[in-house]
Order: sequence, then C-alpha cells, then structure tokens
Amino acid sequence: MGLPILYCLTILLLQSCFSNGFSVPSNFLFGIGSSSYQYEGAYMSDGKGQSNWDNFTHGSGRYIILDGSNGDIAVDHYHRYMEDIDLMEALKVNSYKLSISWARILPKGRFGKVNRAGINFYNTLIDALLLKGIQPFVVLSHYDSPQELEDRYGGWLSSQSQEDFAFYADLCFRSFGDRVKYWVTFNEPNYQAPLGYRYGVYPPSRCSGSLGLAPCKGGDSEREPFIVAHNIILSHAAAVDIYRTKYQSEQKGTIGIALQHVWYEPISNSTEDKLATERARSFSFNWFLDPLIFGKYPTEMEDVLGSLLPKFSSKEMEKLKKGLDFVGINYYTAHYIKDCIYSACKGGEGTSRTEGSYQKSGYKNGVPIGEPTPFSWLNIYPEGMEKTITYVRNRYNNIPIFITENGYAAQDDPNSTMEEQLNDFNRIRCMENHFEAMLAAIRKGADVRGYFAWTLLDNFEWVYGYTVRYGLHHVDYTTLKRTPRLSATWYKQLIEMHSDNN
Ligand code: NOJ
Repeated sequence: MGLPILYCLTILLLQSCFSNGFSVPSNFLFGIGSSSYQYEGAYMSDGKGQSNWDNFTHGSGRYIILDGSNGDIAVDHYHRYMEDIDLMEALKVNSYKLSISWARILPKGRFGKVNRAGINFYNTLIDALLLKGIQPFVVLSHYDSPQELEDRYGGWLSSQSQEDFAFYADLCFRSFGDRVKYWVTFNEPNYQAPLGYRYGVYPPSRCSGSLGLAPCKGGDSEREPFIVAHNIILSHAAAVDIYRTKYQSEQKGTIGIALQHVWYEPISNSTEDKLATERARSFSFNWFLDPLIFGKYPTEMEDVLGSLLPKFSSKEMEKLKKGLDFVGINYYTAHYIKDCIYSACKGGEGTSRTEGSYQKSGYKNGVPIGEPTPFSWLNIYPEGMEKTITYVRNRYNNIPIFITENGYAAQDDPNSTMEEQLNDFNRIRCMENHFEAMLAAIRKGADVRGYFAWTLLDNFEWVYGYTVRYGLHHVDYTTLKRTPRLSATWYKQLIEMHSDNN
C-alpha cells in the first residue's frame, strides 16, 4: 500500500474515532512546546550571559553528550521565531509552551543589570504570538539558569537561589504578565535534581560513589538531590507568593509547575511490589507535588530518608499549601516496579536506599509493558496517560491539569531518505493513542485543560544532542530548514476536528 493511501486511512480512522461526539472541554488549549536552551541558539548574543548549560556543554558535558554537540545555534529560534510562529499558525494551535532563558534577561542573576535586549526579544515574541491568537504558556526555568549563580554560591545547592529565583520571577511577571496568562515556574525539576546532582549527567555534573553515571566532579549523590529539590520547591513558593500578592488579581493569570510523570505499575500483586511502586511514585513526582499541595514531603520519603530529607518550617508549610493553580504533566512512558528492600535487585537507577529501593523493568514475565522502543527508558504505553491523570486527580483533589508534554522519540538515522524522515506514522499512532487516553480520563471526570505536543521542531535533546528527533517538523541541521512531517498535518486535523465540535 502506498504511503499517501496509508496516511489517508490513518486520518479517516482518526476521524471515525472522534465522530462519537466526545470532544475536549471548552477553552481547551491545543498547544505545542519548546524550551530556550533546546531552541534559541544565539549563544552570548545581544548581551546574554552564560547559562549552566552553556558552561556544561562547552566543558565536561562534551564527553557526556552523545554527539558532543551543544545549543550554541540549536534551531536558531532566536532569529527565526517569526517563521516558527507561521508554522504554529498553520498547525492551528492556540498555545505555545516556551521557556525564558534566565541568563538572557539577567546575565548575572540578581547581581547584575537587566539585559534590555533579552526583555525585548521575549516582548516581541509574545506580541507576535498573541497577534496570531496563540497564548504564550511560559516556563521560567526549563533546566537552565545563569552560570554566575553556580560560580558565586553553588546554584541550587544554596538557599540563596530562592532569592535569585524570586527576583527573576518578579521581573518576568512585571515585564510580561500583562499578556502572559499561564506561568510554569519549573519544568521537570524532578529530573533536573537527580540528573545534575546524583548521576552527574546534567550540569553542574555532581555525583559521588557508584551512583554517578558520569566522571564525578565531586558531590554527594545521597544528599544533594534532596537539598536542590528543597531549594527549588521553596523558590517556586516564593515566586507564587510574589505572583499572588503583587500581580495575580490584576493580571488574572494562573501559575503551576510541570513534572515528568512516568507511570509505575507493580510487577506483581505482592504487597512488597505494591509498596515499592508507591515509593517509586513518591520519590519521583509526589516528591514535589505533596509539598506544594499538602505542605509536606511524602511519608514514604520521610520514612526512608530520615535526616537526609530537609525540613520545612511551619511558616514555609503554610506558604507552600497555596502553591499551585494547576499541575503540568509531561508523560511519555511507563515501567514495572519491583521491590528492592525484601528482594535482591541489580544496581541501577532507583535501586539504592536513598532513591527508594525499587527496580524498574520494561517487562513482566517476558511480556513488555506497552510497546518497547530502541530506547530502554521508553516504552510506549498510552494507558499510562489515563492512569497517570487519574492518579494525580485522585491524590490531589481533582486539581486542574495540563498535559504539558507528550511526544515520540525517533532515533536519527543518517541513512534514511527524506521521505522516510517525514512520513512519521509511528509518531502519529503514538500521539493519537495518548490523546485518546487523555480524553478517556476527561470523560471520567478529570479536569484536563490542555494538551501540548512535544515538539514543534527537531532540536537539541540534552544528553542525546541532535541524535534523537521529536519534532512535528523535521530540521535539516546544515541549512536549518524546517519541513512539516505528516504528524504536523495529523495534529492540525485533530485540532480542527475538536474546534468544530466545540
Ligand atoms: C522532557 C523535557 O522537558 C524536554 O526538554 C525534552 O526534550 C523532552 N521531555 C523529551 O525528552
């Protein structure tokens, strides 16, 4: 069967799926995402300061990042944003998740001047989006921060970072909040903390002992991820406090956080494996959400970590409880969980005591969870989307949710033809199934208010450099030419269908 025919069938099938009349709630955001370091390029241009990622990719990161690359040019979004907004307009998305490069507007954090050129860039970008009816959904910190803060006081390891983040957030609300109605303080701090301070594969590349995956540059893998997370949680609370007291009533926006949610399923019905699964959830995302909603860390973490887990004062606890208008869920994958306290597990992520003592597996009795991919960390399991939403909904009293990321990773294959690169049927199937799973959760009552496809363009994928492609548009890294994939057409049609139904 020819590819175009196959494609038409896919779209027809999709349309029949939605012809039962069920659609998304009104005012639903159909969005697409990006982030500053992965997209902008323009390294040190127009007064930008060095970020922690600039520093890392130019230093020890070169040996950690698969292709030794960096985001100096990335996809040059800084200069090509108008072209990229045209692509968004063609997709008919009504929202764009972007992040602000902290070092572009405050090159030295609160210790230096505001970089007006940086502020102007985001002002122009935001205005251009709004002109096309696209709501900016703005992340303040998507892994990157000024290197100056690292050099001065050790960045997130120091409680001084809270003051810096609050200063930066205040500047953003003041400069852009008249037009930005959706704020996300942090994107995936639950990955940033362990990857940067336990395994050493993100900046500042700290790790110790057998847990380190990179050549360790000093650190304490048992303790530092929890200190960093604590400072990030309190930074979030400080920013929210500023937003609530100085801006929210006038600007009428909302503010939340986005976490990476992997769906964890017990590998057996044993009590041990079920408890281990709850530990895995606590040590990965409840770690951040419990403090921001209940004002305390999950019991599982307190029990295991004891004095390794920092404490909140009663004043901080009160502040924390007002910390979230919505939860952003980045969902991609699922794993089975096996207990490692009562049964022996091999070493690896999750297995040590301070990580929660559980082992992840993609298989149960030889049968995979969902569809395996060439990446060991990625099992395509759309049911996990519904289960994750339902879990968050139940645990956190039906809090409003945005699916802030969902997408499909394809290994870059230099031997493939352009046609093969563009006809991304697997991506369409994957994202369509996830979207349906999200609809199922909404149908059962979850308050999901938006879905953001990851991502508009192929881009710099952190430790994978440019070797993994997630874009609904292909990028030729020699010419930086953007070309829509079939998934772009699919997404546009999905959006149109739902807009008609609304
Ligand atoms: C997580 C991160 O937020 C984003 O930066 C990354 O590119 C995607 N998910 C895919 O890994």
